[in-house]
Parts: sequence; structure tokens; C-alpha cells
Amino acid sequence: MKLNQTPRVDATRILGFGSYRPERVVTNDDLSAIMDTNDEWIRTRVGIVERRFADKDQTVPDLAVIAGNRALADAGLKPSDIDTVIVATCTMPCGIPNAAAQVSSRIGIENKGAFDLNAACAGFCYSIGTASDLVRAGTARHVLVIGAEKLTDSVDPYDRANAIIFADGSAAAVIGPAEEPGIGPVVWGSAGELVDLIYMREDRYLFQEGQSVFRWATTAIAPIGLQAIEAAGITPADIDVLVPHQANLRIVEAIAKKLRAKGARQDMVVAEDIVTSGNTSSASIPLAIDRMRADGKIRSGDTMLLVGFGAGLSYAGQVVICP
Ligand code: UT7
Repeated sequence: MKLNQTPRVDATRILGFGSYRPERVVTNDDLSAIMDTNDEWIRTRVGIVERRFADKDQTVPDLAVIAGNRALADAGLKPSDIDTVIVATCTMPCGIPNAAAQVSSRIGIENKGAFDLNAACAGFCYSIGTASDLVRAGTARHVLVIGAEKLTDSVDPYDRANAIIFADGSAAAVIGPAEEPGIGPVVWGSAGELVDLIYMREDRYLFQEGQSVFRWATTAIAPIGLQAIEAAGITPADIDVLVPHQANLRIVEAIAKKLRAKGARQDMVVAEDIVTSGNTSSASIPLAIDRMRADGKIRSGDTMLLVGFGAGLSYAGQVVICP
């Protein structure tokens, strides 16, 4: 017996972005008032000047819905045009229910595929790769990918090692069919032997062995970016915009330096959204992109290298064309 299979689509691209930053701005001085830290240490070691914290009663789905609606509007699509929703998150309070089903329903995307994807801070790049393949395989025509995190619920508010870094936010992208390829092959992987470097403790607060993760990120991630560039069939000099996960400004700068040593241009725009957004895990890459688009720092058609990394340890990167 011969079964039907869905007809394939040749090319995909990102059709639109949207983001949401919670209202409450928290400065380094605000944090110094409640724990033993200071503005100078945070700026020089991490690069953060301020970050956004969600309200106590705002949930991960609340954050996701706003970004999802904005991405749909940016793509010029209606909820009924979307047939799969992926929420990249690692901060839902428990595994059941997932975020995606409620987010999908609240946006008005009815009776469509919806699932969460947890690859921690690599979640957005994992999800873009998955969404692109769903569209190429003909399984979905338009996929809404939303990175949404409420890390303030997962961090001990008095733990100076983590409370100064992590923050809340959400950002989304719509992926659909295209005339020309706009999403390069994903290069993804994991280093599960390093699982003990970042995890949720029994009290459900985050632990990370900062220095070890820092060393890994500054050595392992630039080569992943180079592999993604090669997989896309271009060279480092073709990259207009570098958007690494916003974990630490020093890590962002180290990745940019390594890519420039391999041929990336000096005028390559480098995302530095951590300065005003903190580390928002799977939301950090699309938040940075949406801010740079709004500020006119990047343009439609720019070639962007995305690379996410974090707990797992997990990593993923791909080259995409800015919508
Ligand atoms: O998003 C997931 C992936 N995560 C990452 O990529 C994070 C990678 N790691 C990092 O970004 C950095 O390791 C951190 C930002 C987490 C920490 O920076 P660091 O430069 O590695 O600091 P450290 O942990 O080595 O601490 C240096 C000193 C210590 O004091 P002593 O032992 O030298 O006296 C800490 O106790 O700084 C102290 N310290 C602080 N001082 C003021 C630690 N946190 C603070 C703080 N304020 N908030």
C-alpha cells in the first residue's frame, strides 16, 4: 500500500518578529540595595546596566501571547494563517500544562499543533530549526515560534551570583514558505556530560557554575557559529549581524572577536541587548533582533548569524535573513 506524504516546500524564511519587555525596569543600584553587589561589578563582569522584571502575577504564557501577537502583525498574518505554535521556554512552573496550547488558544489559533521546546538558552535557535523543517516538510505552512521566559520565578532573589543576571521577556518569529532560502541549516548539539554546570536545585532555584560555563561559552560557541556559516554555504565576511545568546557581554565580545579572526567584518553589527535586558534565556536572541530592527541598526535583507547556548549543556546556531 502506498501512503500519501505531505508535499515538500523548497525554501523558508522568517516573515516577522515581535517582542515584549515587561514594564518594570530594575537597575543595578536597585539590586545593590537588597544584596551585596554593586553597579561597577555588574557592568564590568557581565555588562548589564538594567533589566526588566515581570509582575508577580504575569505568567510565561502572558508574556508569550503579547510577543506572538506582535510577530503575527509584523508578518502581516492572521491567527488562522498559523498552523503550529512552538514556545521555547525553560521557566514554566511545571511540565504540565505546557505553555504552547494556552498561548495558541489565547492568540486565536484554534485546534492547531502546539508544543513547548526546552533547550534552555539555545531554545530559540532549536525552535527556528524545527519550525523551518516543519514548513519545508509540508507539515505546517506557517509556524509561530515564541521564546518566553520568567526567570525571576526561578532565581533566588537574594542570590547575587544569579539575581543580577537573569530577567524576564518574550519575543517571537513567524516562519513560512519563501521564494529564496532565508533560513540556513541548523547546527545543533549538546554536551550532556556538562549537565551539572547549570541546573534547577531542589528548591527550584537556578544554580550555575559561572566560570566553567563562561570558559565553555567563550571556546565552544564561535566554532558552532562557523559551522552554521559553512552549512549555509557562505563565508564569515558575509555576516552582517551577529546575534549570540545574551548571557554576558564579555562572552558576546569573545565570540565576535573569534569570528573576526576567521574573516568576519569589523563593521559586523553585534547584538548587545544584554546591557538593557539582562539574560532572558530563550527570549534573548529574538529580543535583541527586534530591538535592533526598531532602532534601525539592522535592515531587511541583512544576513544574521544566530547562536544560542546554555543549560544541558545545549547549543544551536543558524544563518537567517532579516525580514
Ligand atoms: O545563559 C546560560 C549560559 N550562562 C552563561 O553563559 C554564564 C557564563 N558565566 C558568566 O557569565 C560569569 O561567570 C558570571 C557573570 C556568572 C560570574 O562572573 P565571574 O567573573 O565569573 O565571577 P566569579 O563567579 O568568578 O566571581 C568573582 C568574584 C567572587 O569573589 P571572590 O571569591 O573573588 O572574592 C564572587 O564572590 O566576584 C564575586 N561576586 C560578586 N561580587 C559582586 C559574584 N557575584 C557577585 C556580584 N556582585 N553580583
